[in-house]
Amino acid sequence: MSAVPPASFLFVCLGNICRSPLAEAALREAADEAGLDLDIDSAGTGAWHIGKGPDPRSCAEALRHGIDISSYRARQVKADDFRRFDRIVALDASNLANLRRIAPAGHSARLSLLLDHVPGLEGQDVEDPYYGGPEGFETTWRQVREAARNLVAEIAGSGR
Ligand code: 4NP
Repeated sequence: MSAVPPASFLFVCLGNICRSPLAEAALREAADEAGLDLDIDSAGTGAWHIGKGPDPRSCAEALRHGIDISSYRARQVKADDFRRFDRIVALDASNLANLRRIAPAGHSARLSLLLDHVPGLEGQDVEDPYYGGPEGFETTWRQVREAARNLVAEIAGSGR
C-alpha cells in the first residue's frame, strides 16, 4: 500500500511576486510549527514576472519574520495545477474569478478565497500592496499568517 500524499496547496495572486509568495511562506512556517507535511506552492494569474524573484519589499517583510523567500521564483498558473493541487487559494476575488474562468472542466481542486479562512474577514481581498508603501506588506503578512494558521488547524482537524 502506498502512503497517502501530503495535502497540497497553491496560493494565487496576480503577479506572484508580492502576496502569494508571502502566503506560501506563511503556510510553510505554520505547517513546520505544527509538524505537518504539506505540499505548498504559489503562482500568479498574470505572466509579467515569470522567473523573477519576489518583490524586495515582500522579501524584507518575510525576513523580518526570519524567513528567506529570495529563492522563490514567479510562475503562472497552468491547467495542470487544477489537477495537481487539492486546494487553490486566491488572494483576492478578482484572481478567484479568473481561476474559475480558466479551470479545466471536471478539475479536482477546491478553490477558495484566502480571507474566507479568517473569521471576521470573510469575503474580503488581501489588498494588492504593489503600488503602496511598506505598511501594505505588513498587513499582507498579518493576514496571510492568520489564514495559514487556520488552514493548518483545518487540515490537522480533518486530515485534508
Ligand atoms: P501580487 O502584486 O499580485 O501580489 O504579486 C502585483 C505585482 C505586480 C503587478 C501586479 C500585482 N503588476 O502589475 O506588475
